[in-house]
Amino acid sequence: MLRLTLPVVLCFAAPALADTFDEIKVSAGQKLFDAECRRCHAVDSKDPSYGPPLTNILYRGAGTFPDYDYSTALSASGIVWTPAALRAWMEDNDGFMPGTKMRHVGIEDRTVQDFILSYLAAITTQDNRAVEGKD
Ligand code: HEC
Repeated sequence: MLRLTLPVVLCFAAPALADTFDEIKVSAGQKLFDAECRRCHAVDSKDPSYGPPLTNILYRGAGTFPDYDYSTALSASGIVWTPAALRAWMEDNDGFMPGTKMRHVGIEDRTVQDFILSYLAAITTQDNRAVEGKD
């Protein structure tokens, strides 16, 4: 009996579980973001913030938030904030980009990076790849 029903149950449970995992990752990411990044980065672009706002950061061109006073290193870097670039940045931002004015953060734990990336993806509501493609 169990053998027959289990696959059916799993079939129906899988999408819901995936949603639950995503919610957990995003909410853990938000807590980590609040602890590690929030003091310098507003989420809402209307809030004052020492660093550039990180809404819509995924696949945004580096140094392109309007009117933010970036370092030359960042604004001239020409990189796009892919997940891999964001990982390298979290791990060793001033090694990855000498001359940046962001203080070293040094998040080396890949799981912590994953959570923060999930959160940054959740606050990215526009498809920057499509926007970048039009340039
Ligand atoms: C002590 C303040 C501070 C902390 C903490 C901090 N940042 Fe920053 N961040 C900055 C500043 C300042 C800049 C602009 C750097 C420049 O112009 O060189 C920046 C830039 C960035 C950029 C580039 C944005 C763009 O528009 O190109 C990203 C991405 C970023 N930070 C992510 C993070 C993440 C993720 C964390 C937490 C893990 C974090 N930062 C923690 C101050 C901070």
